[in-house]
Amino acid sequence: MIPQTTPPPDELKAALTGLPVPRLLYYASIGSTNDVALEWAEEGAADWSLVVADEQTKGRGRSGRRWFTPPQSALAFSVVVRPTEAERTALGLFAAWGALGVASALEGLGLKPRIKWPNDVLLGAEKVSGVLAEAVWSGGVPTALVVGIGVNVLASAVPPRELTDFPAGSVEAHLGMKPSRWGLLRRILTAMAEWRARLQGDEFLQAWESRLAYRGKLVQLGEAHGILLGLSRDGSLVLRTPSGERLTLHAVADAHLRPIHHFPQNS
Ligand code: BTN
Repeated sequence: MIPQTTPPPDELKAALTGLPVPRLLYYASIGSTNDVALEWAEEGAADWSLVVADEQTKGRGRSGRRWFTPPQSALAFSVVVRPTEAERTALGLFAAWGALGVASALEGLGLKPRIKWPNDVLLGAEKVSGVLAEAVWSGGVPTALVVGIGVNVLASAVPPRELTDFPAGSVEAHLGMKPSRWGLLRRILTAMAEWRARLQGDEFLQAWESRLAYRGKLVQLGEAHGILLGLSRDGSLVLRTPSGERLTLHAVADAHLRPIHHFPQNS
């Protein structure tokens, strides 16, 4: 059952004006917006239905990690996507769709975000946003996707270093002022609507690739390492190994891209 909602703040309602969002579920505090959105999708939520929380008490990250959303400081929201038949052939791109939406929105604030493959958004060397995309299947067909996005908007949203496995930062710290949370949400959803129309074209892949962090630099992903060349057509990561081979890597749970400074010995 979908948990009881809270009346949304007026500023949030105003921020959604003119966007393709048919319905909003807002929570002052909830376990995870993705959990609510998955349930809602099972119950028939329409395309672009939106779940927003001020605080998450059981926010989920990729690979079973936790995601922290303290009150009044972050964005935590999940979009229900009803993929068209054409979009079903490109489901793997939807997490990057969220990251590109966040990156485009931050660019609109004058910042220079980078996307740490596959879909973390960095400002400088710090992660400010993450995306968790999950599918609802019925009879072997993906009937819905839930794209959950978390953004550390204010400095108070950043978890202590010992609780994260990658340095985290906030939009506030990089902008030098406090941005409006709901204004930023509007920018992200607007950018996502624009990118969704272009999801299957070269332009989407080029936009993602041109924003990739560590391009031309040495990186490690699991056991693999090499110079990061770019993306393949399906959004996989392409590296050049020390022996000159081109290596195409798919996103896998528990393997996280990292910059390194030297080729490991015996490579
Ligand atoms: C990651 O970087 O590991 C992904 C983080 C995704 C966090 C968002 S916050 C909104 C939505 N609800 C969740 O429980 N997780 C996602």
